[in-house]
Amino acid sequence: MVKILLTGGAGYIGSHTYLALVQAGFDVVIFDNFSNAKEDVPLRLQDLCGHTVDVVKGDVLDRRDIADVFNAHDIDGVVHFAAKKAVGESVEQPLDYIHTNVGGLLNLLAAMDDAGVRRIVFSSSATVYGDTDVQPIPEDHPRAYTSPYAYTKIAGEQILEQLSDDWAVGILRYFNPVGAHQSAMIGEDAEDIPNNLMPYIAKVATGQLEELSVFGDDYATPDGTGVRDYIHVEDLADGHVLSMKSLLETNQSHTVNLGTGEGSSVLDVVGAYAEACGQDLKYKIAPRRDGDVAVLTARPDKAKQELGFEAKRSLSDMCKSSWAWVSGQRRNVK
Ligand code: WQD
Repeated sequence: MVKILLTGGAGYIGSHTYLALVQAGFDVVIFDNFSNAKEDVPLRLQDLCGHTVDVVKGDVLDRRDIADVFNAHDIDGVVHFAAKKAVGESVEQPLDYIHTNVGGLLNLLAAMDDAGVRRIVFSSSATVYGDTDVQPIPEDHPRAYTSPYAYTKIAGEQILEQLSDDWAVGILRYFNPVGAHQSAMIGEDAEDIPNNLMPYIAKVATGQLEELSVFGDDYATPDGTGVRDYIHVEDLADGHVLSMKSLLETNQSHTVNLGTGEGSSVLDVVGAYAEACGQDLKYKIAPRRDGDVAVLTARPDKAKQELGFEAKRSLSDMCKSSWAWVSGQRRNVK
């Protein structure tokens, strides 16, 4: 059975990818330091997949930890999620972000090379495109960082591009991942005051937060609010399965956007979420947020051509799954 190592596999996207890989017939090991994941995620995954979940607690910054995993398991490929991902926080802690995201990747690649494991799917981000009017964005658009976080993703991609031909690398540029698993047993464990839109709206819907601040309604968009390409986290997980399958079958590398190609405004999301939770959601118009761009949407066709990937779930599905998760409507679907 093909065995895949998921670094950061107990996190939001990692845990959903765990389930998708298991469902696709892979054997999966989670490697996580639980700095940004709840300790009970493996137990919930166990309930969902009906078998013991292989978890190794460790840190990609610890060479011994990561070497031990490759000594203990016959790994065929790696999906690398373990990284810090908050743009704003990266501006305050640039060295920490570079150390964790770039240093951690270098540690992982050294351990993989020592173990003769040379198939890796890398969690990248649309933020590598910087601030651009080219919308939807194609993968050959130039890269330009606008934050230390974006720098670490560009640096990671460039390091991976230096590897010799006996490596096969899947670089996946996420747009805006949202939503939760259909069972509502796993989802995004957001911070108390979320930075991102949907987790914030979710906390307004549950009454944990008073009202949403809409960061600007004077953008050159249909309703003046920011437009983004939201993608359901289960679609995103499916994209990782297709990426790993392609690496293992073709030994060819790829770099693709993972998005829907559809743009939704902040007020579109507020409306869809209100529909999903059956209540009006309080919001006020606030000043623009520094660093925000008006529109950010993916050209999705390269992922379709190279991996056969196509996002299937709608904005309504995303909001309904998020609402089921935050309102505790757990359903143990296998
Ligand atoms: C979406 C829209 C905001 C919060 C970020 C990172 C990106 C990626 C995904 C890691 C924008 C508006 C938001 C709020 C609002 N992370 N908004 N009120 O900024 O597109 O992308 O998360 O890879 O790298 O940059 O996502 O959800 O923060 O914002 O009006 O309270 O919602 O202005 O238009 P973003 P977001």
